[in-house]
Amino acid sequence: MAQILDGKATAKQIRTELKAMVEQLSEKGIVPGLAAVLVGDNPASEIYVSSKAKACGQVGFYSEVIRKPKDISQGELSSLIADLNGRPDIHGILIQDPVPSHLNSLELIMLVNPLKDVDGFHPANIGMMLLGQPSFLACTPLGILELLRRNGISPSGKEVVILGRGNIVGKPLSVLLSQKWKGSNATVTLCHTGTKDIAFHTRRADIVVAAMGKPEFLTGDMISEGCIVVDVGINRVEDSSRKKGYRLTGDAHFESCEKKASYISPVPGGVGPMTIAMLLSNTLKSCKLLNGVQ
Ligand code: GUN
Repeated sequence: MAQILDGKATAKQIRTELKAMVEQLSEKGIVPGLAAVLVGDNPASEIYVSSKAKACGQVGFYSEVIRKPKDISQGELSSLIADLNGRPDIHGILIQDPVPSHLNSLELIMLVNPLKDVDGFHPANIGMMLLGQPSFLACTPLGILELLRRNGISPSGKEVVILGRGNIVGKPLSVLLSQKWKGSNATVTLCHTGTKDIAFHTRRADIVVAAMGKPEFLTGDMISEGCIVVDVGINRVEDSSRKKGYRLTGDAHFESCEKKASYISPVPGGVGPMTIAMLLSNTLKSCKLLNGVQ
């Protein structure tokens, strides 16, 4: 039976550490500040943004959720970002994805000061990451590395198979895990919709990261004994036995995978809380950089 990669507990530990650092900063009169821009009324985005704001409160950050109607123009949002770039009390800016289809999300991200890009989505940060230079790293890939590290798992020399080539998780994670760094240095295979035989790859993997957004896609018969499963999916599937009419499930089929895996991250309570912990960590980092604090 697999050991659980408990992201909830690990994130709590990280928040305790961050809180102590925030207290030190407050002696200098500095408070880290995060602005989250939420466009439209996507219920999942509303939950994510509220969780981010709550986490900010838990560690003593200032946070602002800026809600805008779904018909806001690109120009109005551009002005808002310029305003946030100029505010000394705001060190991190995030635009919750997805935005309505009439907006150009990449153009908006490119307007964010790269030093305030705590999501690690700005092309300047992505380019620096690719070059192995210091930058803001995307929160979910960073959270996965931290979850592994804090559970004593080193990807170095291991075969890692990532399912999904999205810009937020799969693609940046493939780059990070390939870097010649301590805590990375893995052999990475990135599987996607064009991959002929996904199970061929997952069966020879030491670590599988499921991040393709397909509920319970990765099943126990697709992994080898002792494999480490990191589940990034958060999917709502209908469940009439639940009060809400749905349950949350990952991209891995937990019951069959946990029988063979040595470690598995649950959904919820695995990668999700780690993503938010890394957002806080990035915001503290930007606050220190912008204030010239070591
Ligand atoms: N939507 C899903 N994940 C993310 C994330 O990490 N950051 C932002 N801004 N939007 C998201």
